[in-house]
Amino acid sequence: MVSMDKLVSLCKRRGFIFPSSEIYGGLSGCWDYGPMGVELKRNIKVAWWEDMIGSHDQTDVPPGAPTAFDMVGLDCSILMNSSVWEASGHVGGFNDPMVDCRETKTRYRADQLAVFRMEPVEGDAAGGDQMLFAAPGEAGVTPDEDLIATHRKRIKSITRKGGDFRLVAVPDALEDDDLRARVLAPGASEPGTLTAPRAFNLMFETHVGALKDNSNVAYLRPETAQGIFVNFKNVCDTARVRVPFGIGQIGKAFRNEINPRNFTFRSREFEQMEIEFFCRAAEAEDWYRYWRDRRFQWYVDLGLSTDKLRLREHDEDELAHYAAGCADVEYEFPFGLSELEGIANRTDFDLRQHMESSGRDLRYFDDQEPDKEQRRYLPYVVEPSAGADRATLAFLCDAYAEDEVGGDARTVLRLHPRLAPIKAAVFPLVKKDGMPERALSLYRELRTQFSTFYDEKGAIGRRYRRQDEAGTPFCITVDGDTLTDDTMTLRERDSCEQIRIPAGEVAAYVRGQIGR
Ligand code: GAP
Repeated sequence: MVSMDKLVSLCKRRGFIFPSSEIYGGLSGCWDYGPMGVELKRNIKVAWWEDMIGSHDQTDVPPGAPTAFDMVGLDCSILMNSSVWEASGHVGGFNDPMVDCRETKTRYRADQLAVFRMEPVEGDAAGGDQMLFAAPGEAGVTPDEDLIATHRKRIKSITRKGGDFRLVAVPDALEDDDLRARVLAPGASEPGTLTAPRAFNLMFETHVGALKDNSNVAYLRPETAQGIFVNFKNVCDTARVRVPFGIGQIGKAFRNEINPRNFTFRSREFEQMEIEFFCRAAEAEDWYRYWRDRRFQWYVDLGLSTDKLRLREHDEDELAHYAAGCADVEYEFPFGLSELEGIANRTDFDLRQHMESSGRDLRYFDDQEPDKEQRRYLPYVVEPSAGADRATLAFLCDAYAEDEVGGDARTVLRLHPRLAPIKAAVFPLVKKDGMPERALSLYRELRTQFSTFYDEKGAIGRRYRRQDEAGTPFCITVDGDTLTDDTMTLRERDSCEQIRIPAGEVAAYVRGQIGR
């Protein structure tokens, strides 16, 4: 598996992802997509939009779906009336518990600090005043050696007294004043430097208009979902949709994460791809299963390794109070198995909250329902909520490979052709004998159909390697034979196999491979 260091370095070197405002030292949790990255992320968003909305056939019952259904799109403003966030519960409840280290001046999410002690396997159990250790991670999930590594020296001084030691988790230690006083924070010289956990609202606050007071507070939206809920009636009234139907949206979301980390995985500014799917309460369970399985399969179809993907159904005690079911699509990143997307049965919670807060009747009216009592109702919502940046990171991690070609080491991004930033590169073998002219005319033909790159500089092998690193699935080379029989060499990125193909067939061949 690729290390994060290697991936971050490739992303910088090849123009996929840069730290935001880098020349000023960056801004934590914010990232810029370079020329390659913007194409990759855009292709992921286009694939999502096309597969979920653009190419949806409202007259057909897709495999696994209970019935046929409608899908439409929306693009809401990022700033909304602050009442939206009061009704949704974000103003009162969108909090993470945070702790600060008074010595190192570092802030942590309390639920992302594992607290443990080292206990002899045999002999006396730990005494009541023994030192406790806090390390980034989760006891039982993060490998013990990673937790221990944060305090290697201190732990060595305990364990060198002899015998075997084991790591024992001390849950909820940060909430308890006495236990917290014994906790040694990462990088601290003495225990007792962590503050008690405090609630920290993740929404970025701003003001609309010239005055800065409580009357004009606005928030940068922390999810795109609420824009869909507050437009439910508008869409019903204008789009001729009938329940069951879904509204999809792709857009920026902002969260003042306490501890942004793992490259783009936990950012403060990111993009979501969300669907709110409206259905009758009695059918919500079936639709939930449909969307859960369909969204998992989407990642498989776009090439993520099945042995690194997991669909994890939440336990009862993990569910939000309003949710009737929730599953995460997880991917095994180099830093561990982590959430790519969540699919939840949100019941009628959101529409009900907005109906009560706004005073507007948001119930759906089904004029074709024979039973009068059943005609007007609040639909249930199934929500598949994905992150475009997390998906981009997962596709990059999964695609990264190092292998050998003709005895030379190469780095290659085995991206699905639909997602590859550049679909084809065109090279003249040498810069003479009319080859550049022929290659340029092919390049000009291809670039009107899909993203194509022209390169005539350097040895042909190096030109191939550069495209391999960028994930370009096909390279087409014009050589001496082209000038006599008008055939070209087409090289496939993963196998490095080369075939001879008539010039007139190149465009159709590549289009077929990239699914256009
Ligand atoms: N509307 C539901 C919702 O927003 P969420 O689990 O908080 O649910 C959904 O977020 C998805 O958004 C996540 O699965 C993840 O892909 C993405 N996401 C959430 N927070 C993120 C962050 N700080 N950085 C990058 N992506 C994030």
